[in-house]
Amino acid sequence: MCGIVGGVSLEPISQYIIDGLKSLEYRGYDSAGIALSMDGRIELSRVKGRVDKLAQVLPQNLIATTGVGHTRWATHGEPSEINAHPQPSMHQQFTVVHNGVIDNYRSLKKRLENRGFQFLSETDTEVISNLLEFEYAQTGNVMQSIKNVMRQLVGSYALAILFDSDEEHLYFAKNRSPLVIGKGRDGMYLASDYIPMLAKAKEFVTITDHQYGYITHNDVVIYHDEQNTPLQISFHQTELVSEDIQLIGYPHYMLKEIEESTDVIRRLIDNYFDGNQYIFDALIIEKIKAARNIVFLACGTSYHACLIGRRYFRDQGKNCEVHIASEWAFYPYIADQDSIFIIVSQSGETADLIHCMEIINERGATVITITNTKGSTLDRAADHTLLLFAGIEIAVASTKAYIAQVALFALIAGAIAGTTNTVSDLVQIIKVQKEIIKKRDSLIPHAQFISKNSDVYFLGRGYDYDVARECSLKLKEITYIHSEAFPGGELKHGPIALIEKGTPVIGFVSDPMTADPIRSNFQEVCARGADVLIISSKSLARTGDQIVLPDVQLYLTPLIKVMIGQYLAYFAALELGYNIDKPRNLAKSVTVE
Ligand code: AGP
Repeated sequence: MCGIVGGVSLEPISQYIIDGLKSLEYRGYDSAGIALSMDGRIELSRVKGRVDKLAQVLPQNLIATTGVGHTRWATHGEPSEINAHPQPSMHQQFTVVHNGVIDNYRSLKKRLENRGFQFLSETDTEVISNLLEFEYAQTGNVMQSIKNVMRQLVGSYALAILFDSDEEHLYFAKNRSPLVIGKGRDGMYLASDYIPMLAKAKEFVTITDHQYGYITHNDVVIYHDEQNTPLQISFHQTELVSEDIQLIGYPHYMLKEIEESTDVIRRLIDNYFDGNQYIFDALIIEKIKAARNIVFLACGTSYHACLIGRRYFRDQGKNCEVHIASEWAFYPYIADQDSIFIIVSQSGETADLIHCMEIINERGATVITITNTKGSTLDRAADHTLLLFAGIEIAVASTKAYIAQVALFALIAGAIAGTTNTVSDLVQIIKVQKEIIKKRDSLIPHAQFISKNSDVYFLGRGYDYDVARECSLKLKEITYIHSEAFPGGELKHGPIALIEKGTPVIGFVSDPMTADPIRSNFQEVCARGADVLIISSKSLARTGDQIVLPDVQLYLTPLIKVMIGQYLAYFAALELGYNIDKPRNLAKSVTVE
């Protein structure tokens, strides 16, 4: 996911932009750039690689007070200096940074080439900057040019635009990719999210789809592309504080966020239970109760959390289905026209889910978003939202958000069932999680063993199979070790062919009903030479189980078994020396399909 940081200030702005881009590094990128408006010209610097490298090539002591920076996660065109943003137009009249994907850029580019425009990069963004230049030649008006360009673009974009030698304005336009404006004491700022502005601003305005406008050092003007008068602006504050993005002594955000899980569950209880009863929006609970069918849509870790949520809701007699968003978006099968949709997304900006949201809204079905990001695209586009209150999640590998999603599903199921036992069960989980955190170093030898392998398999049944899938994803993401999770009973239908001497297999045992069958599966792989690491609940433990966890309610075992998988992945990646918080090829929020 690309990152945008810019502003119009009374003070020199280059260091603010560099620091802001660094605070967005967690989103994943492969090139970076900055454009500063000064002395009647644009000072442009771009690099393939990290922001630190950009800072090194940037001329020192620049006095520019208007500028914009960008971290690019390559979509159109390989990572390179020439494809990095900002992207100037042919005559350097417009300089643009862009987060998103323009679907019709090829046809627009062809049209511009036929009008004599020449292109230097492979990006869709350069098409935008040249289209602005073309429109400005017709209109002589920057805002009209932006409006005209928006009408031609098909796709997603958050744009920040510098015009010629204008040091007073930074223009913007937005559709489907996030953009936030922050009002500071010494200027106006804009960024892809709140984080870069936390040190500068306390009041914010979220730009919504089809909006465009500009900021000056003390003002912001916003238009909707179908209206001719500026919009009334109401600023809001954010609960985020810059401390949220500090490591506070941890070596990595991922470890910090694993160990925030107890706080996450406590905050969810505090936000959705007043000590006597649940305090959910009653309309949401009623809609879920009344639904003939519930369709969960999500990606990655959030999808794995939905697998657990589906079990909870089915236990309450609800028909439920779970779909991977990128599949459903193109094959939007609906089992029941009276279905309601639950979209689950930590970032609230995942492009696959925005695509699904558009389909759902076209069909007029009820959609509830569960997200960690207030004001996100998926929050604003839903009929109802339930927030995760997990605090900002920086590490690309999602950990505490999964905990929050599963715990929230449990609370919702408790509200549907009308039982407050869920709350006391979750309080018990917090106690057990604290014990696991205290003993985390005991997992290091197992992680070191795992790190020496190229293939690692996970086995489980029921809840444990769903957890195994999430643990397998964690391992893949940050150690780059191939991993798969199988339901134990499926081994004999094919996957057991993969097992040979020394193959590491990690198995979970949580459910009395399937304890014997899953242990038979462990025997099957052992008989073929596998090295089995067994993670069992105490009442089901047997001699030789390497990791034995305290008993908790079966339905909440995912909240403690997953922590073991998170720690194993973390310590294995540590052993391998990889970039744990920013794994290769991955972005924190996937804002392109
Ligand atoms: C999880 O560790 C990954 N970073 C990824 O699978 C993530 O869960 C997925 O991209 C969905 O993100 P979202 O929850 O923000 O929509």
